[in-house]
Amino acid sequence: MVSHRLKHILRQASSMCVLTGAGISAESGVPTFRGKDGLWKKFKPEELANFDAFIRNPELVWEWYSYRKRLIDNVRPGAGHTALAELERFVPRFTLVTQNVDNLHQRAGSKRVLELHGNIERSYCIACGSDANEEHLNRTEGVPRCERCGGLVRPAVVWFGELLPHDVFNEAEEAARWCDVFLCVGTSAVVYPAAALPATAKHAGAYVVEVNMERTDISHYVDESLIGLAGTILPELVGILREEKEKIA
Ligand code: OAD
Repeated sequence: MVSHRLKHILRQASSMCVLTGAGISAESGVPTFRGKDGLWKKFKPEELANFDAFIRNPELVWEWYSYRKRLIDNVRPGAGHTALAELERFVPRFTLVTQNVDNLHQRAGSKRVLELHGNIERSYCIACGSDANEEHLNRTEGVPRCERCGGLVRPAVVWFGELLPHDVFNEAEEAARWCDVFLCVGTSAVVYPAAALPATAKHAGAYVVEVNMERTDISHYVDESLIGLAGTILPELVGILREEKEKIA
């Protein structure tokens, strides 16, 4: 149930920043990381999402990423992704920031997405830095090698212990600083620096709303926690703005 206060704030908002996490893709069938059936319950991040692990055992790491790529190829964006793509058209200054690497926001039609943790559909050579040709990659069995220099190719995702792309994070931080409303959707908000963005927004005076199936580490300081499915709540929020737009038109 969306409060009257939030409805009013949403209608007035001229700038909005949204941070998404694995929960928004869960309804599409992409597993989350933590929680009961989370990936990190079954797999060890230190063996799969870490540069040293990749150098030690690139076969294993590529097996894991190929499995996830196949999984993502076979799912569709959900109602939450679609709602955010629509929201981008309604709010004058809108920034979508995601921790997800699954490309589902783009597939749902979002035009501008700040990818904090990279994108599983891209890869690059660790020796010469050139982007890998994804078609070549998809035809390759086992560990892909750079077509230019023969170096090891890795997925273009951020692993534990690695820095986030500097420009992308700066832009996300800027958006968190100037937004009127900050939505934090489907993330456990425990992985930094992404998890610091809602606090940045709060300190700068934004109205911070969390959308999650359960309370999280940030629930104690947000202005509202909307507990439920992203795929149900986000279309409701967008509906409020659509109604407003239709009234004006
Ligand atoms: P988590 O798996 O930590 O958290 C997912 C959150 O989504 C939990 O808080 C769930 O309660 C919530 N959730 C699940 N289904 C939902 C639904 N249908 N609607 C709303 N909420 C739902 O995933 P992240 O917070 O995204 O990093 O994880 C952050 C980072 O940790 C990931 O980007 C990844 C991982 O290690 C890297 O790979 C660098």
